[in-house]
Amino acid sequence: ELGPYSHFMQKEIHEQPKALSDTIEPLLEAGFVPELFGANAKELLSKVDGVLILACGTSYYAGSVARYWLESIASVPCQVEIASEYRYRDAVANPNWLVVTLSQSGETLDTMEALKYAKSLGHDKTLSICNVRESAIPRSSEMVFYTRAGAEIGVASTKAFTTQLLALFALTATLAKIKGRLSDTQEQSYLDALRHLPGSVQHALNLEPQIKIWADRFAPKEHALFLGRGVHYPIALEGALKLKEISYIHAEAYPAGELKHGPLALVDDNMPVVVIAPNDVLLEKVKSNMQEVRARGGELFVFADLDSHFSESEGVHVIRTPRHAGVLSPVVHAVPVQILAYHAALQRGTDVDKPRNLAKSVTVE
Ligand code: M6R
Repeated sequence: ELGPYSHFMQKEIHEQPKALSDTIEPLLEAGFVPELFGANAKELLSKVDGVLILACGTSYYAGSVARYWLESIASVPCQVEIASEYRYRDAVANPNWLVVTLSQSGETLDTMEALKYAKSLGHDKTLSICNVRESAIPRSSEMVFYTRAGAEIGVASTKAFTTQLLALFALTATLAKIKGRLSDTQEQSYLDALRHLPGSVQHALNLEPQIKIWADRFAPKEHALFLGRGVHYPIALEGALKLKEISYIHAEAYPAGELKHGPLALVDDNMPVVVIAPNDVLLEKVKSNMQEVRARGGELFVFADLDSHFSESEGVHVIRTPRHAGVLSPVVHAVPVQILAYHAALQRGTDVDKPRNLAKSVTVE
């Protein structure tokens, strides 16, 4: 069942180009039409003027990427909430907002309860983005988008995450179109970007030998920092979660601009700092945050595309990630941090597919 791979996690990381092309297929056929989300979606989505995303763990980070997309592409306000917090808050409902639950398994108890709570507050436009057909959460939602990642066995979510991102991108573009904020040219360019995405992800997978060398250096460490800004900040969060979840190395992620407000105190020559730094509008800011780290002796491991113009120097290691047209860059950059965590865990000899204390579906509180 594992084929040439040593673990399900490794297999699932490598299945991403296929998982993505399978998930993209209906989009490429139909374009960004509401029907992608169900027969009743046209009517329901036409009334939406905001989006509330409810999720846990990795799914929450997928939602956090989507917030940047929804605001910048569709000009739709978005709130992303950790389900276990939302369900116990005295949240103020806005029935014109769409409630999106993100859950790979469709069975996560806190996400299910958060959905029930949102409905009890009067939210009746609900969409589930899920990888498991007919599971509890999609069954309780008005609209559904199934990602086509195939079964994910490793506890650490990989292909479910990147396909969730695609679903959220499709939602963003669809809302933008409904609101008249997506020109035909823009739609075509997004569809082209989607078409090329599996190829870019394959290029990222080809970086595995280089990333493994970094992972060997990480393995003896007990702490690591991950930095990103803007739409790449949630990818830093996801990288830190992957690393701690399977290698048990303590990892934290920060938006790089927050460094000087506290975490910079942790940085010394024993602290590896991973930076997600493709060329985007915040790159120059990230570069100056990196200088702050270097000045304190922190060793930098930078994932940067060709356009970021980084060169290696003492204490600054660079891996060139594939260039990928703007907005979908977080999908491509999720892959190297998964590989880094995987190889660091291998080096440490942990149980990669079944990390201690964790379960694939969290159906208890
Ligand atoms: O099935 P779900 O997407 O609802 O699961 C939510 C989290 O438990 C899950 O994403 C968890 O954080 C992953 N194991 C992380 O890799």
